[in-house]
Amino acid sequence: MFISVILAAGEGTRMKSKHSKVSQKILNRPMISYILKASEKAGVEKNIIIVGKNKTYIEELFSNRALYKEQKIGDDIPYGTGYAVGLASDEIGDEDDVLVLNGDCPLLTGESLRDFLAFHKEGANAGSLMTSLTDNPKDYGRIIRDDEGYLKAIVEEKDASEEEKLIKEINSGVFIFKGGLLKESLTKLDTNNSQGEVYITDVIGILSEQGHQLGIFQLEDEEETYGINSKDQLAEAQEIMRMRVNTYHMKNGVVMENPRNIFIEPGVIIGRDTYIYSGARIEGDTVIGEDCLIQGDTHIKDSAIGDGSTIRSSYLESSVVGSGVDIGPFAQLRPGTVLKDHVHIGNFVEVKNGHMDEGSKAGHHAYIGDARIGRDVNIGCGVIFANYDGKNKHISHIGDRSFIGSNSTIVSPITIKEDAFVAADSTVTKNVEKGSLYLTRPETKIMEEWVYKKRGDKND
Ligand code: UD1
Ligand code: CA
Repeated sequence: MFISVILAAGEGTRMKSKHSKVSQKILNRPMISYILKASEKAGVEKNIIIVGKNKTYIEELFSNRALYKEQKIGDDIPYGTGYAVGLASDEIGDEDDVLVLNGDCPLLTGESLRDFLAFHKEGANAGSLMTSLTDNPKDYGRIIRDDEGYLKAIVEEKDASEEEKLIKEINSGVFIFKGGLLKESLTKLDTNNSQGEVYITDVIGILSEQGHQLGIFQLEDEEETYGINSKDQLAEAQEIMRMRVNTYHMKNGVVMENPRNIFIEPGVIIGRDTYIYSGARIEGDTVIGEDCLIQGDTHIKDSAIGDGSTIRSSYLESSVVGSGVDIGPFAQLRPGTVLKDHVHIGNFVEVKNGHMDEGSKAGHHAYIGDARIGRDVNIGCGVIFANYDGKNKHISHIGDRSFIGSNSTIVSPITIKEDAFVAADSTVTKNVEKGSLYLTRPETKIMEEWVYKKRGDKND
C-alpha cells in the first residue's frame, strides 16, 4: 500500500509569522491543502500529517482525510525532517511504500506525483527521489551522484562545500521508501551536521552505502518542486498558481482582460464567454455561468451566478443570482441573498438575506435586509427595511408589482400585498392590502415671504 507522511511541524522561522508556515495561504487556501490534494489525486490511500503547534488548526482543516502525529518542539527534543518522519513509524508496515512529502511544496501536481509512484514501482527501487534542475539551487539539498550517475547522497546547502554548491540538481523533498528499510534507516540517523538536526536526506546516503538500488525521478518543470520558506517565495508561488488556474479557465473559454491581475481560487467554475476585467477576486464555492460580465474590483465569494449577468465593482457573499441580472457599481450582496432573473440592483444598494423575484429593481441607495420581494417590484431610492428592533431581526414581505416610493422605511415585520403603492417618504408600520395606497407624509407648509419678513427687509 502507498502511504504518505506529510511534514508540517517545522518552526517555519524564515516565514517570520505568528502563524504556521503550512497554513500560509496561496489563492486563499492553506499551502498544505495543495500537497494533501496532490497525494490523494495520486491515489495514496493513507496520509499521515506530522503536525506541531498547528495541530488543532490542521486537524480541523482536514479532519478524517488524514491521520495526525504530533511533533513536540523543545530544547531537549530532536528536531529535523528525519525525526519528524520517524514519528509516523507505528503507522508504517514493512511492505508499505512510504511517500515522504513536505507541507511547504504546494506547486507539486497530482499528475507528477502519480508518475513518480509509477516510476518507483516499475524500477523496483528500495527508494526513489524526485529532483529537478534549477539555475537557483540556493537553500535546497544538492544531489550527489556517483561516477555512473547513481544516487549517492544528498548534501544540504549549509553542509555543502563550495564545489557541491555549484550542483544544480536539487532535492525536492519528495521521496518514496520501502517501509521496513525506512524504519531501519531512521534509527541510524544522527545530528552530525551544521544545523544539529536529524535529516531525512541522510537516509539516501545510508541506503546507498548499503548497496540498495535508488532511483532518481527528475521532474522537467522545476516550478513544481519549489519549497516555500518565506513570504517572497509565497508570493512567487501564488503567481504561478494564479496563472495555472486562470489559464485553465481561459482554455475553457473564459475571457480575461489581464489574467495576472485576476484572483480566482481553485475549484471555482466559470462558463465560456464570461468576460472578467482586471481586479476581480472570485473565491470559495463559486459558480458563474456563461456570457457574464464581471467588472472592476468585484469580489465574489461562495456564490452562484446564472448566465448573462453583469456585476460591476461589487461585493457578493453566499448569494444566489439568476440570469440577466445587473448589479452595481458599488453594491453589496450579503449572505442569504437570492436574486431571480433580470433583477436590477444599482449603486449603493445593500441586500442581506433578501429575496427578489424576477424583474424587481432597486436602482440606488437602499438597504434590503430580511425581505421577501415578489416580481416586478420597484424599490425606490433610499428605501430602508428596518429589520432589527435592537433585539431580533424581522422579515417583511412585498407582493408582486408593488411600488415602494423613495426614502420610505419599512418597519419589519410588515406585509405589503401585491399591486400596492407606498408613497415616497412613508414610514410603513402597518400591513398594506392589495392594490392600496399607503401614505404617511407630514403636512406641508409654505409661508410666502417668510424669509424676508424674518430678515426685516423687502423683496423688491
Ligand atoms: C528540505 C530538505 C532539502 C530540500 C528541501 C526541499 C532536509 C534536511 N532538507 O529543506 O534537502 O531540498 O526541503 O524543499 O530534509 N518539518 C517538520 N519537522 C521538523 C522540521 C521540518 O515537520 O522537525 C517540516 C516543515 O514544516 C516543512 C518540511 O518539513 O514542511 C521541510 O522542512 P524545511 O525546514 O522547510 O526544510 P528545508 O530547509 O526547506
Ligand atoms: Ca522548505
